Amino acid sequence: MTNATTTFDTTLADLRDRALAALAVADDPEAMAAWERAYLGAKGELTGLLRGLGALSAAERPGAGRAANAVKQELTAAFAARNEAVASVSLEAQLAADAIDVTLPGRAPILGAEHPVTRMVAELGEIFALMGFQTVYGPEVETGHYNFDLLNIPSDHPARDVWDTMIVQSEREEIVLRTHTSPMQARTMEQTEPPVRVIVPGRAYRYEAQDASHEWMFHQLEGLAVDERITLADLKGVLTELARQLFGPQRKVRFRCDFFPFVEPGVDFAVDCAICGGGGCRVCKQTGWLEMGGAGMVHPRVLRGVGYDPDRYTGFAFGLGIERMIMMKYGVDDVRAFAGNDLRFLRRMARLAA
Ligand code: DAH
Repeated sequence: MTNATTTFDTTLADLRDRALAALAVADDPEAMAAWERAYLGAKGELTGLLRGLGALSAAERPGAGRAANAVKQELTAAFAARNEAVASVSLEAQLAADAIDVTLPGRAPILGAEHPVTRMVAELGEIFALMGFQTVYGPEVETGHYNFDLLNIPSDHPARDVWDTMIVQSEREEIVLRTHTSPMQARTMEQTEPPVRVIVPGRAYRYEAQDASHEWMFHQLEGLAVDERITLADLKGVLTELARQLFGPQRKVRFRCDFFPFVEPGVDFAVDCAICGGGGCRVCKQTGWLEMGGAGMVHPRVLRGVGYDPDRYTGFAFGLGIERMIMMKYGVDDVRAFAGNDLRFLRRMARLAA
């Protein structure tokens, strides 16, 4: 045996011992991979040693090669065995960590609720459906023609200034954000022959400073009934029924003369305050009455404007503030709450209505 083979054998034996010792303490997949790189990989120690065989003499090479290959097989086998053990232990650990405890209580889903206006619109739709009214919707961006002219409010009429209008365009054609839901009166009549019975819930817009009782955007409920022989008594009956359905069977309704260009006669109507029973309280501002809106008999000029014969047909119309009705029903004292997006208000309303 020459010096060269002795050195080679010693190095090989040392490498083998160090490799096996390191393998014995590698206990996770990363350590195993690092070990494989360090000893068996393309740049690993054993691979380097095998490359060094070329430096030995032709006589020494076969024996050294065999010895090195034997160590390579031994280490490869040891690695495979250890690797399997480590992998199964780490799989078990992972399964244990990921296990779902089905006995833990679940997380409650966060439930939203309908906006109070949406709820009131649905409630009104049901009340009026039972009286034969169909719900229809109209555009919020209107022409002056429908918002004013067909409602007997011509451009040169001072009544046009009664509504503080948000104007979208005025040069070529007057386009506005509708100031009320009344334009749907004319739109509906233009498209149908009598009898007509519709309600129109929807948004209305006014150029107005906000305060506790004014909003620049709010909701109205328009109503319209046209047929032969419709009288003010029908209007009174329908609105009395509405008041009782909404506020309780004992409610009384009050009509007083009022002016709106599209009705004749025109009235405002109010319900006796359900909260104080008419005695006077904060909600009715000590009057005993809650103002609900305007109404009246459809003006003959409005009927003629849509091609109806006012000698044959009569009708009534009304317009109610939806936020107002909710405020009256639940004692809300600031209209700004409805578009304010304060969750505390919305949650309270959802609880009250439940
Ligand atoms: N459009 C009116 C407003 O917003 C309310 C109204 C009054 C509607 C009388 C009607 C009505 O249909 O007959 O001020």
